[in-house]
Amino acid sequence: MWKHAIEDAMEKIKNNVERFGDRFPHVSVNGRYELNNNDDWTNGFWSGMLWLCYEYSGDEAYREAARLTVKSFKRRMEQNIVLDHHDIGFLYTLSSQAQWVVEQDEESRELTLQAADVLMRRWREDGQYIQAWGLSGDAQHGGRMIIDCLMNLPLLFWAYQQTGEERYRQVAIKQADQSQRYLVRGDDSSYHTFVFDTETGEALGGATHQGFTNGSTWARGQAWGIYGFSLAYRYTGHKVYLDTAKRMASYFIGQLPEDYVAYWDFDAPVNANTYRDSSASAIAAAGLIEMLSLLDDTDPYRAEFEEKFELSMTSLVLHYSTIGEEGAEGLLKHGSYYVRGNVAPDDYMIWGDYFYLEALIRLEKGIKGYWYESQPLQETR
Ligand code: GLY
Repeated sequence: MWKHAIEDAMEKIKNNVERFGDRFPHVSVNGRYELNNNDDWTNGFWSGMLWLCYEYSGDEAYREAARLTVKSFKRRMEQNIVLDHHDIGFLYTLSSQAQWVVEQDEESRELTLQAADVLMRRWREDGQYIQAWGLSGDAQHGGRMIIDCLMNLPLLFWAYQQTGEERYRQVAIKQADQSQRYLVRGDDSSYHTFVFDTETGEALGGATHQGFTNGSTWARGQAWGIYGFSLAYRYTGHKVYLDTAKRMASYFIGQLPEDYVAYWDFDAPVNANTYRDSSASAIAAAGLIEMLSLLDDTDPYRAEFEEKFELSMTSLVLHYSTIGEEGAEGLLKHGSYYVRGNVAPDDYMIWGDYFYLEALIRLEKGIKGYWYESQPLQETR
């Protein structure tokens, strides 16, 4: 089943290369991807999908398209286009770092190191967190950290490995520690963001951006936590991160409805019209594969995680994918971007497509995504 799903996805991606040209998909409107000029937080996912397709198939057409996206990311860096946010790892881990992983290309290594420096500029020494959005001192966002940022920390761990400069690693560890302390609640659910007073550094409280309420658990945020803490463990060996990832995964699994694909927020009232977020389940699935690769065989969580992971992936493939839908641009239906704002509440999300593909390709051929330390192509097979 996985192989068939990958082949279907790769055909769609190849058709999209033609359609998208030098533009980048974000989320869909009426079944068609909205395209932009590489100025959003999501642009790396398209690049990462192309690199994965190349690694999986060896087809040069994907590599050619992937290389062009990295050129676009180079221009984005040179012209400093919308880089004042925490999402730098989402952008450059999946584009230039991916090129480095696949081809050991020196220029892409340099570009990725520049990206790590851009992310380092988000570190707020006073409050000890990476600021999510806005410029330093921004009235609305100045004191805000965000759970999604855990997925950007591998860029810093990677920069440490490449340069030996401890500052990258220290910031990544401190951000993971602060995320664990402030964003994960005592019952293993999570806040989407947490706000500090920019003047005094006082911890003010959890707040949502895309979730149902400040105190609710936004499913995608929980999924970012599962994958992000697993990665923090991979890079540091700090057991507390693995424990946190396990607890968050257990919570996530406990909230799933009968078809094992998450509603957009675990505290939103459920009725016939409640939106799913298939992208949250794809991220959680990709995170669970990573976590399972790190767990001892005797770990008490293992059996349940394996079972629920399989059920969730099967449901995504059978009931949420566009397999067999000719002309479809996306891979996964029923993602939700920002339900309360009515922005793409039931659509394709390019990151949902990316993590769905990453999970499938890792299952089928063992090829990991690009959140890991660099390895030559042959070792990833
Ligand atoms: N990182 C933004 C989102 O997950 O929507």
